[in-house]
Formats: sequence, C-alpha cells, structure tokens
Amino acid sequence: MAVIRRIEPRDVEGVAACMVACKGSMFGGVTGMRLWRAMAGDAAKGQLLCCVAVEDEKIVAACIAASRHFHWAFLLRHPVLSAEILWHRLKEKFGSKEPVQTDRTGPLPEEIFKYVSREKPPMTWNHCPGADRALFTGTLHEYRGRHIAAGLKQAMARESERPLVGRISAYNVISVRSNHAGGWKMWLDGDSNVVAIKYPDRGAQTSAETNTQVAAAQPNVK
Ligand SMILES: CC(C)(COP(=O)(O)OP(=O)(O)OC[C@H]1O[C@@H](n2cnc3c(N)ncnc32)[C@H](O)[C@@H]1OP(=O)(O)O)[C@@H](O)C(=O)NCCC(=O)NCCS
Repeated sequence: MAVIRRIEPRDVEGVAACMVACKGSMFGGVTGMRLWRAMAGDAAKGQLLCCVAVEDEKIVAACIAASRHFHWAFLLRHPVLSAEILWHRLKEKFGSKEPVQTDRTGPLPEEIFKYVSREKPPMTWNHCPGADRALFTGTLHEYRGRHIAAGLKQAMARESERPLVGRISAYNVISVRSNHAGGWKMWLDGDSNVVAIKYPDRGAQTSAETNTQVAAAQPNVK
C-alpha cells in the first residue's frame, strides 16, 4: 500500500528518477535528472509544494506545484541548469525542425466530457491570479491504475494554502480521470487543453484515498 506524504530531503533522488521515468518536462521540453533533482531539492526545502507516494521505501509517484512566478527564483538558484535551459530554448527556436509525431490531433475523446465542463472556466492556466500551478504528476508505470495519482491530487489540495491550477492535454484521458477521482474540477482551456482546479481542502477524503494510506499532514510550504 502506498503512503502519501510531503516530500522530505531523503526523497530527492527518488522523486527525480520517478519524474524522469514518467517523462516529466519543464521550461518548454527540458527534462533529465539534473532538472528534476533541482526541482525536488527545492521542494524538499519548502520552496515548491510536492507530495510523494512511497511504497516499500521507493518513490512510486509524485506531484509538484509552484507559484506562477517560481521560474525566476528557480533559474537564479540554479545558474548551470539555467544555461542548459537557455541552450535548449535557443536550439528549439533556431535549430532544424524535426516533424513532431503526435497522436494528439483530431476530435477530442468524448469520454472526457463526463468530467470536463464546456462552460467558461473560473480560471485558466494563463490567468489564475492568487493560485499556484500544478506542474507535473507522474506515477511509475507498474504502479498505475491504483488511484495513487488521484490520492496525490487530494493530498496536494490539503497541503496547499492557495488554489491549485493544472493544465493537461484534453487527449490525456487517464490524467483527466485521475484528476476527477482526486476531486479536481475541470473545464476546457482552449481547443486541446483542460484546466483542472482545486481549492485548498483541509479535511475531505475522496474514494481515491481509501486505496492509499495517507501520512499525517505536515506543516505547509511558506
Ligand atoms: C496520468 C498518471 C499520473 C495517472 O497515474 P495513476 O496513478 O495511474 O492514476 P490513477 O490510478 O489515480 O487514476 C487514473 C484513472 O485512470 C485509470 N487508469 C490508470 N491507468 C490506466 C491504464 N493504463 N489504462 C486504463 N485506465 C487507467 C484508473 O483506473 C483511474 O480511473 P477511474 O477513476 O475511472 O478508475 C500516469 O498515467 C502518468 O504518470 N502518466 C505519464 C505522465 C502524465 O501524463 N502526467 C499527467 C500530466 S501532468
């Protein structure tokens, strides 16, 4: 059974490995251990919000969120990484373009509209004053489908002091289902994205958490 709790310093390597294995990327496509070690390290120091799922002392899933303005402070704290990110962005902008292979085209999967409203969202990814952004959630492949990510989403809402706003591809049906199971509300955000919103929630337990043992709440990130 997975235990869900706030990240601790001993979790940094495991979180980084989990995020890389789940193909987590930031800053327009940057990935790798160095990036995620820095993100997880900052989270362990309380500069970002991160909850982890631990099973048999292994990090099997993690969810990370940050203030909408965290990028600048992050880049200043990690100058070598910043140079790599800049290099990546320059290559993206001026390098030769490989055709992007994606199956994320065509009509949106009808299933998402069981969970996603077509109404105007109260906030969007680009306009979410006073909210933090949920940046990435990943569950290791062999642990998927057990509502671990849903439990993490619920735990994030309990640990956060501000509303949380996430953006996911509208083609990522599993992530939409997981957000729903974690109690997040969803709206379309543009043509092919979904905005998922959750307000801080100290008490509620969803069915998502009945499958995971949730560690006692830790103090909130300042
Ligand atoms: C999206 C992701 C985090 C979900 O993790 P998870 O722990 O498996 O998710 P959960 O078990 O909480 O819930 C997912 C829902 O999809 C279902 N599901 C999960 N994996 C599935 C699979 N392989 N096939 C079919 N359904 C699946 C679950 O049963 C659940 O649906 P339900 O509530 O109707 O039962 C995981 O698939 C992942 O890491 N993907 C790669 C990274 C990613 O896309 N992240 C999301 C964007 S930030």
